[in-house]
Amino acid sequence: MDYIIEKAGWRDFLDLYRLEKVVFEQDAWPWFDLLVVLTFPGFVRLKAVANGHMIGFVAGELRRGDGAGWIVTLGVLPEYRRRGVGHALLRQCENQLNSKRIRLCVRKSNLPALKLYQREGYVVYTTWVNYYHGGEDALVLEKILPS
Ligand SMILES: CC(C)(COP(=O)(O)OP(=O)(O)OC[C@H]1O[C@@H](n2cnc3c(N)ncnc32)[C@H](O)[C@@H]1OP(=O)(O)O)[C@@H](O)C(=O)NCCC(=O)NCCS
Repeated sequence: MDYIIEKAGWRDFLDLYRLEKVVFEQDAWPWFDLLVVLTFPGFVRLKAVANGHMIGFVAGELRRGDGAGWIVTLGVLPEYRRRGVGHALLRQCENQLNSKRIRLCVRKSNLPALKLYQREGYVVYTTWVNYYHGGEDALVLEKILPS
């Protein structure tokens, strides 16, 4: 499958809004948060595009307070999964965050994402109890990038 990864911006708002609803369902961010991630300084935002359509998105933020870059969202449309797009988005976002320490959080039951993150070298850093809608815990994962 041919796709490219490129920077995203405010013009991608509608595409991201639609993608978010399909990919995250009950966990979809409100529109304002999507606008923030697409426009505020300090975020890395990348989209995967195939045939002119957004098929995946990742965003990351450097949080100096805890000395880590955080992957704040990562999603790929269902019909484009298991083709390496999620992995490629994650890697590029990690690189552009320019931080030795990368963190993210994920539902405990989200096995596809957990498999991807484990394969990429993430380990459990801590648990946030009752974090998601419905009361599910979040696992906070961490990866230390080689120097
Ligand atoms: C998690 C997600 C981004 C993965 O995207 P993807 O493009 O399918 O991922 P990749 O094709 O790059 O997968 C890389 C590896 O991750 C693992 N993996 C990904 N999906 C998997 C699944 N459903 N079952 C088992 N392993 C899986 C595999 O090791 C895979 O390598 P392989 O296909 O060679 O076996 C995608 O499933 C998604 O958008 N899920 C819904 C949103 C979400 O949960 N985001 C993460 C929130 S923290």
